[in-house]
Amino acid sequence: MDSHEASANGQPQPAREATPSTGPRRGWLGRLGQQLARRSPFEGTIRPGRVPLVAPLLGRPTLPFPHPWNYREPLRILETFFHGADAEADRGARHTRYLDVPGFAPVLVTRDPAIIKAISAATGDKPGQFDRDTMPTSGIARATGEKTLLYANGSIWREQKQLVAPPFARSTLFNPEVFSELEASFRAIAANRLEAVRHRVAATASQSLRVQLEPEIKAAMLEMLVNSFFGAEATTEELRSRDVPALDLVIDNIVKDTVMAKAGCPMHRLPSFFPGIRRARMASAAFEELVSKVIEPRAMRSGAWKQFESSASDEALRPNIRVFLAGALEATTSYASWALAHLARNPAAQERLYQEVRGVDDYSPETLKRLEYLSCVLNETLRLTPALYFHPRRASVDTWVRTDQDQSLLLPAGTHVLLDVWHANRHEDFWGAAVTGSPADQFVPERWWGKGATDQGTREWSHFGFGHGPRFCPGKNLGQLETALVVGAVIKLFELRAPTPQNPAKAGVSTKPLDGVLVDLRIRQR
Ligand code: HEM
Repeated sequence: MDSHEASANGQPQPAREATPSTGPRRGWLGRLGQQLARRSPFEGTIRPGRVPLVAPLLGRPTLPFPHPWNYREPLRILETFFHGADAEADRGARHTRYLDVPGFAPVLVTRDPAIIKAISAATGDKPGQFDRDTMPTSGIARATGEKTLLYANGSIWREQKQLVAPPFARSTLFNPEVFSELEASFRAIAANRLEAVRHRVAATASQSLRVQLEPEIKAAMLEMLVNSFFGAEATTEELRSRDVPALDLVIDNIVKDTVMAKAGCPMHRLPSFFPGIRRARMASAAFEELVSKVIEPRAMRSGAWKQFESSASDEALRPNIRVFLAGALEATTSYASWALAHLARNPAAQERLYQEVRGVDDYSPETLKRLEYLSCVLNETLRLTPALYFHPRRASVDTWVRTDQDQSLLLPAGTHVLLDVWHANRHEDFWGAAVTGSPADQFVPERWWGKGATDQGTREWSHFGFGHGPRFCPGKNLGQLETALVVGAVIKLFELRAPTPQNPAKAGVSTKPLDGVLVDLRIRQR
């Protein structure tokens, strides 16, 4: 078995010998002995802390693995890994934890930004680089197909990247002609939807209306993607009443199916006479019709299809289209929902943003650059409440990781890695008052002010909201534009107040505010 060194710059280094006596190169019997003796499977200067499989007296949030009773609470599963870890003085044991159950590959969970960065940079198709771990996303592959940019690894991933990423590139989207057409169409969709909400608010005697904004945001985001980006012609009504609920069900079933398949019972094996299974099949059929609808404009070269040069058949593109529709809708809805949920609880930040966007009528690249407070709000949203809350990786061979601070870690082949961005981004050690001037668990856009923040973070701080390294999000520019526009348009038109100060999360494929962004809306007097 090979051993490789992956460094923070993403280039695999020449293979370096693992010390044979301490583990990773042992055969399966040696590994089993090591597991039974509870010896760490890792080497290097970073010493991860061990997490027991069961520990009823520790008062942990749940067990440290998903099962049918806790799979809907993945954030609590991750929290379990760090239960009691703040008492550790050593950075390794405090922020990087592992579970090593006899007979299984180790699972490493890290909330250390230096390790997250090094492993993300070293994920790709070069020898000895990490794969994206397919285990936690097997339900996605059954719903979309395996040959996609999101799911594939190695040379298939590289092929998918070359095939489908160009229409999303900054150079394509920010081409003045493409941009102005897309932005105007996005703006019209946001304006139509907000006008409908404005009518409902104006019709109330108190001029204030309590609404859940998430369904409105989701419908607008889907319309932007299907009609503006892909150039299809779906009606607002069918997107809202048929396609959004179908996609919700497809996404919910992706999470359920991942856990059921692990228990040996994937959903496609269950008969349709179960009402839940029948509903799931109807939702998949509606999803397939939507996929066909966005592929049809390819023949006319409408929308983003204008920039798409490939001889790949429509059939071969379907898996990626499914990923873009379901994944992009999840991520952009999460992003805009969290931004508005935070602003609804922070009147001063909302007022400051309103003062910035009140005179903005269109979102050209120059305007976006000028809207510095909006950029702070969006960065702070992705930091505190990232849409994708963990990034799964897998070491396919024994792999050395070296951080920017020259710390090292050897992961044995087969190790499952969860880069726990959610907990990294809200830990006082990395984002607290001593580092950023404000407590880590609070929404304070001002911490980004004057930092020349880009939308992945600054030179000093990275929130990993769009990932890092070769598997960085290709949809960032599109998603960032949609979210900036929706958040700016809502704040320009309405004043938002949340009925509760707490802002808890629900998590599945992405995270979202648990209350569906419940707010009291008032029309702003201009
Ligand atoms: C604006 C909200 C969005 C957020 C916060 C977001 C976040 C992310 C993150 C964190 C990753 C990296 C995951 C990892 O390293 O394991 C990622 C990858 C990806 N995103 Fe996004 N995304 C967004 C929008 C979009 C859009 C609009 C699209 C496409 C239309 C898209 C398509 C993808 C794909 C295909 C990948 C996988 C890339 C690869 O593995 O090479 N995303 N996204």
